[in-house]
Amino acid sequence: MRVLVACEYSGIVRDAFAKQGHYAVSCDLLESERPKGIHIKGDVLDVINQGWDLIIAHPPCTHLAVSGARYFAAKKSSGVQAEALAFVQSLMDADCPRICVENPISIISSQIRKPDQIIQPWQFGHGETKATCLWLKGLPKLFPTNIVEGREQRVHKMPPSANRWKERSRTYEGIALAMSEQWNNN
Ligand SMILES: C[S@@+](CC[C@H](N)C(=O)[O-])C[C@H]1O[C@@H](n2cnc3c(N)ncnc32)[C@H](O)[C@@H]1O
Repeated sequence: MRVLVACEYSGIVRDAFAKQGHYAVSCDLLESERPKGIHIKGDVLDVINQGWDLIIAHPPCTHLAVSGARYFAAKKSSGVQAEALAFVQSLMDADCPRICVENPISIISSQIRKPDQIIQPWQFGHGETKATCLWLKGLPKLFPTNIVEGREQRVHKMPPSANRWKERSRTYEGIALAMSEQWNNN
């Protein structure tokens, strides 16, 4: 399959699909952390309609996540929230038969539609909690691959740093592996 991983700087989902033999490409405004894979540095809206068989998108949640609700009034009046929602809608509307859009609990649920599934890292081998919503088109729900005991809130405990947002947003390897193993039909 031709797989586009939109808004991915880590290369984690891209490399999971590449290992399964797919032509997998990541795209982000940033450089990839793993320069060995195929990466487009630029605006994903310029490449989403280029004949992909599967798009997995991780759009920014900064203006959408419910955890930031105390800032919503300012985000609404400045227009950044509407812009972020329009970006998500563009990803969902891409000309592609299979699409997954991933985000935390966010206003996508009330402003666009409810997610098809909410998963947790502890269902995929990581002893942590982080509710992760998936909006799916043409894809089955992911089934848990390795339910583990731990329920740590690691990402919330991280000390402030310039790279904190990256540590918080990097996709879990176990979830990437499950996507590549379960969404692998061509
Ligand atoms: C929440 S992070 C997702 C990180 C991802 N889970 C990973 O493991 O790399 C959102 C990413 O979207 C990227 N981004 C924002 N707007 C974009 C655009 N128009 N085109 C491509 N990437 C974009 C940001 O640079 C950021 O890296």
